[in-house]
Amino acid sequence: MNTPNPFSERLIRWQKQYGRHHLPWQVKNPYCVWLSEIMLQQTQVATVLDYYPRFLEKFPTVQTLAAAPQDEVLSLWAGLGYYSRARNLHKAAQQVVEQFGGTFPSERKDLETLCGVGRSTAAAICAFAFNRHETILDGNVKRVLCRVFALDGNPQDKKFENSLWTLAESLLPSENADMPAYTQGLMDLGATVCKRTKPLCHQCPMADICEAKKQNRIAELPRKKTAPEVQTLPLYWLIVRNPDGEILLEKRPAKGIWGGLYCVPCFEKLDETYACAEKLGIVSDDLSEQPALTHRLTHRLLMITPFEAQISSSDTLRHSENASKDNRFWVKPENLADYGLPKPLADYLKQRQQALF
Ligand code: ADE
Repeated sequence: MNTPNPFSERLIRWQKQYGRHHLPWQVKNPYCVWLSEIMLQQTQVATVLDYYPRFLEKFPTVQTLAAAPQDEVLSLWAGLGYYSRARNLHKAAQQVVEQFGGTFPSERKDLETLCGVGRSTAAAICAFAFNRHETILDGNVKRVLCRVFALDGNPQDKKFENSLWTLAESLLPSENADMPAYTQGLMDLGATVCKRTKPLCHQCPMADICEAKKQNRIAELPRKKTAPEVQTLPLYWLIVRNPDGEILLEKRPAKGIWGGLYCVPCFEKLDETYACAEKLGIVSDDLSEQPALTHRLTHRLLMITPFEAQISSSDTLRHSENASKDNRFWVKPENLADYGLPKPLADYLKQRQQALF
């Protein structure tokens, strides 16, 4: 049993008075909690508020999600990014159905066996849905702890991270405490007060026990992560229209960038792009090169050059035969919304709507 500590008591009181209370996923249903936590892993609350209700409407239970085709899941996820989350979500729903009889387990260790669920996400589900005494430790919580306790370890160092887990566990409130309020308090404090830049220390319930504040080290804690190396990857898109105004799409391989989504033919080399165009009956002179656009992924900067082309009716049949051999198919512009497209492609097609369709 944990003894009462000023940190958890203050946090719970502060959360009840000043924290966020009307988020749609603040419910006891573990399916809803799990879904929201996965969406919130790398995405802002405002964006998730838009996607979450649509997703739940389409897949109201873990059973409906498990039984859905992967394409439907990815198409509802399109635009949220980090698509491995959606593929894992689908797999995890099938795990819950097959391995846990369709009922979410309430033990953290069991939750951690689900695809895409790490220790912090498992703890959040435990605390929110089952009032369990488990601690989360996401980036926001690490920042709060490093400041309140003036810890200047390297957040990327595994040993230091382990010591943060131990500290977070030692701070858990006493037995009968309101774990959803405590857990939401950790999230809310990091997100709204103990912000990375310009923290609002005058509003902080920990201000008078905060070691970083006392030592005037708020700006230097937590220590900055070394920036990941970003590689630039050139990509070429072939945007082909037929005389009916349809455009050519293909399903991306399961692994790699935009895995499992639908895209226009996409290549890493210019000569592959020309070779594909030629196979489709398009000579390079008829390819209209468009200004390049950039799109940042976690470790890569994509430099995408779109090539647009129109094929004539005499080429359509040959074209269609080749297309279906390569698992490509024609889609009417009004049906594009049915396919999970990478965000930069959806944005590009929208922006080029007038010119293309
Ligand atoms: N970020 C991660 N989980 C969250 C939650 N439950 N509420 C608000 N922001 C979050």
